[in-house]
Amino acid sequence: MEDKIKHIAQEIENSQIQNKSDLEEFRLKYLSRKGILNAMFEEFKQCDSNQKKIVGKSLNELKNKIEELYDIKNSELNNEEDNGDNGIDTTLPVYNFQPGSLHPLKLVEDKLVDIFYSLGFDLSQGPEIEDDWHNFGALNFAEDHPARDMQDTFFINQHVLRTHTSSVQVREMQKRKPPMRLIMPGRVYRNEAVSSRSNCFFHQIEGIYIDEKVTFADLKQTLYYFVQQFFGQGTKVRFRSSYFPFTEPSAEMDIWVGCDTPEQLRLTKGTGWLEVLGCGMIHPNVLVSNGIDPSQFSGFAFGIGMDRLTMLKYSINDIRDLFTNDVRLLSQFKGV
Ligand code: PHE
Repeated sequence: MEDKIKHIAQEIENSQIQNKSDLEEFRLKYLSRKGILNAMFEEFKQCDSNQKKIVGKSLNELKNKIEELYDIKNSELNNEEDNGDNGIDTTLPVYNFQPGSLHPLKLVEDKLVDIFYSLGFDLSQGPEIEDDWHNFGALNFAEDHPARDMQDTFFINQHVLRTHTSSVQVREMQKRKPPMRLIMPGRVYRNEAVSSRSNCFFHQIEGIYIDEKVTFADLKQTLYYFVQQFFGQGTKVRFRSSYFPFTEPSAEMDIWVGCDTPEQLRLTKGTGWLEVLGCGMIHPNVLVSNGIDPSQFSGFAFGIGMDRLTMLKYSINDIRDLFTNDVRLLSQFKGV
């Protein structure tokens, strides 16, 4: 038996394993159930105990040698495959590499921030998950006032997904003292019937200016300035009186879109005008709730809908197109 073992060891040394099928042949020949190694162990059982001592050792050495060789060759062949032997050249440059672009909503936000910076406004932001007090209570919404229904939202226990960025006004009034001039962009949520002009989440940019002797004329002039800067000289706007619990008087501002095309008619519900913001003079109750003396200070506030501005600016007919991430739309904003 000793001789046999020596002979097999020699055979192993000389074996040529070049590829996977050689390796499989090797495995079947030596390591499978019906292979040589198993047969040798069967034969070993027949040896007498003296012989077993000597033969056992060399048989085990042979087994280790075979298994080791199999493992080495197996990992060598696998590595070769990973290194491109299977016909893939991993050194080729990637193709179809597309540089990205800013989302149109972000472009509009940046533009607005620039315009209001030039008027001396600072930038601030607040959380999207709010408590009832910041979203409603501190803004003079009575507990059961129907104005809460106009801004129906998603409640999570005591918290709401904010319905407007006006909640950030509250946070800033609590933090600062007048004079203050701030813009506060961000995402807001409403339980809306989704359509081409309304979505259950959208984006606003809130603005406030609080100082001594701020008037409605300052508000109108600021908004006129922003519209002319954003859409160009001569853009027509109109103010309609409105109601918000946190401003008095209150107004909404519309922009003239036109009523020549079916898209314009749909977007403006047949009127030619599109509402883009709410605004007004900050209600004295709001100033008091936030520790500002209304006999000394007055202020204005506005909340602009950025999605609608984006649709107007870039002739996008459906608000939902802003959120489907279709590259055919997004790629048009490269380099804007
Ligand atoms: N928060 C109001 C809305 O979302 C807009 C607004 C802001 C109105 C500031 C007046 C002053 O509808």
